Amino acid sequence: MELVGSFQDLLGECRKVFDSGNVVDVDQVMSLLASYTSKPEEWKKFAKFDRHKYTRNLVDEGNGKYNIMLLCWGEGMASTIHDHSNAHCFMKNLRGHLIERRYDFPTEELGVMIEKGNQDLKLNQVAYINDELGLHRVENPSHTNVAVSLHIYIPPFDQCHIFDPRTGKQNVSKMTFWSRYGKRIPFQIHEKTSPPAATAAAAWTVQGETEENTKNESLDNNVQHHPQQQAVVQVK
Ligand SMILES: [Fe+2]
Repeated sequence: MELVGSFQDLLGECRKVFDSGNVVDVDQVMSLLASYTSKPEEWKKFAKFDRHKYTRNLVDEGNGKYNIMLLCWGEGMASTIHDHSNAHCFMKNLRGHLIERRYDFPTEELGVMIEKGNQDLKLNQVAYINDELGLHRVENPSHTNVAVSLHIYIPPFDQCHIFDPRTGKQNVSKMTFWSRYGKRIPFQIHEKTSPPAATAAAAWTVQGETEENTKNESLDNNVQHHPQQQAVVQVK
């Protein structure tokens, strides 16, 4: 396959590939992603960090057929174990070093979840997972360097299941974006009449994939969350 010259080229090629039909050729997409050599100056406008959690930053909504996003990992940050809502998940390391750890779906007996394998995702490397392959969690093992990964989800989804590694119990987690198209999403003000269920759902967000809603709802309902401050770390 022809090499992709720039991040914009990569976005354009993805649009062509995913608009051409409803069948996802996993090898083709992995080759496409692998053919791009990360250049931070091309994507850094999308890479917005928070000091307390990793962030999800929308890059392309793909005509509603798929989402491309950058996940920005501060030092030592990690996701919870999660599934992918029957979607394809492609992942490419654009900066730093990430580790992907895989797990099987818990059995009915539940219990401690045992890691069944892991892989280092070094700069420019690509990984793929779907629910048939199992669950995973992603972590930035470095305590001195941030990491940035590009993710493609096809079809898009805004909630998944997260799993407690000590028990195997699962919960639904709703996910939102920290920024869209390079712009930080403003805080949302909620009516006091919001149903309590919304708060319960917001409290179960994937670590680092926290909903903005939790900030305001925690004030209204005295729910404890991590301190939330807008800290933007510029990628150089
Ligand atoms: Fe994932």
